Amino acid sequence: MGTENETANYKVKDIALAKEGRLKIEWAERHMPVLMSLRAKYKQKKPLKNLRIGGCLHVTKETAVLVETLRDLGAKVAWSGCNPLSTQDDIAAALAAGGISVYAWRGVSKEEYYWCIDRVIDLKPNITVDDGADLVFYLHEKRQEHMASVIGGCEETTTGIVRLKAMERAGLLKYPMMSVAEAKTKADFDNIWGTGQSTMDGILRSTNIMFAGKTIVVAGYGHVGSGIAARARGLGGNVVVTEVDPLPALTARMEGFQVMPMKEAAKVGDIFITATGCTKVITAEHAALMKDGAILCNSGHFNVEVDVASIEKISSKKREVRPNNVEYTFRSGRKVFVLAEGRLVNLASAEGHPSEVMDMSFANQLLSILSLAGRAGKKEKLDPGVYEVGWEQDALVARLKLESMEIAIDKLTAEQMKYLSSYGKGT
Ligand code: ADE
Repeated sequence: MGTENETANYKVKDIALAKEGRLKIEWAERHMPVLMSLRAKYKQKKPLKNLRIGGCLHVTKETAVLVETLRDLGAKVAWSGCNPLSTQDDIAAALAAGGISVYAWRGVSKEEYYWCIDRVIDLKPNITVDDGADLVFYLHEKRQEHMASVIGGCEETTTGIVRLKAMERAGLLKYPMMSVAEAKTKADFDNIWGTGQSTMDGILRSTNIMFAGKTIVVAGYGHVGSGIAARARGLGGNVVVTEVDPLPALTARMEGFQVMPMKEAAKVGDIFITATGCTKVITAEHAALMKDGAILCNSGHFNVEVDVASIEKISSKKREVRPNNVEYTFRSGRKVFVLAEGRLVNLASAEGHPSEVMDMSFANQLLSILSLAGRAGKKEKLDPGVYEVGWEQDALVARLKLESMEIAIDKLTAEQMKYLSSYGKGT
């Protein structure tokens, strides 16, 4: 193996980590049966031949399985990370050593982050794959000369869809985007079960604290927040939910959680986890009310939910006490601890969602990419806009997942089908 960390085709932290990364990718492959079955199904036909795919999505072992599937189906691929702290350097090294153009390392500065995206765009992608819409936005804003060759893109996360829909409303979105984020076999599993478990994992790796006996404040009770609340309760925590929307607030209460405004929750919480997709959910004003030793972290896409800068402003001292765990001391002597700089704690402090759930998310990515590729050059080309993946795709992914788990389900009989489509039979 070479010893170069940077060539014309990739830039990673340490290419010597490739062997470790390869073992992890093999582990992920073993736990991603749906994606691997699709790889096996399409590998000979090469339906992505002649296509260039550019991705900006967390460089993890699960993403590597997706990237190598795209390559095996014939695509030329270039990839960057979509968060400064989420790249797993051994995985990036393994991808680079395997011939993928990967530009990613943990701890990129903002400038380096966009340098990596620039290199992905240098590939002149026909299809873009985003997690948070940074690639698609940057392409529209700064590299318009490469827009013409794009046939479409896929977006992995809710925050990205919120941005894309805003671009669409403003008339700025110039190509079709598949909303993988809203597929049921993505959102109902990845967002709930994946984030729930990986958030606990991240907090535990950065703190090793006990949840039982503590009060856990979860900000936001959407898919992500509800998954986190359930897992925190499962570990014995007393969970408090904060919300701005009356409906999820009511659901949280009915599901047995206390619900209160953040200013109240700030006084009682031991651990605070944001999952809202919004900005300044926890600020210095809240931190000033918190108990000594409160732990703050975020599981939303961007690092805007915990206003770390405002907490730093009211602090007299700051030091790292464990990996991804920074202690801020206020002038009163009280301390709070911020995990992973307020970035995605599940990816920055741990390895992100488990492979089993990313299996469904990335099967959706692959099927959406195949559908865009299948339309290319045909009359069925989509207009610019944000598109749902469709129930057929969800049904296929769910069926394949059940099959991989050796779970059979019942079938409607002819009589039941007739009953369900008729209106005549009542009391
Ligand atoms: N998002 C959350 N977890 C992830 C993972 N394991 N890989 C890629 N993206 C993710």
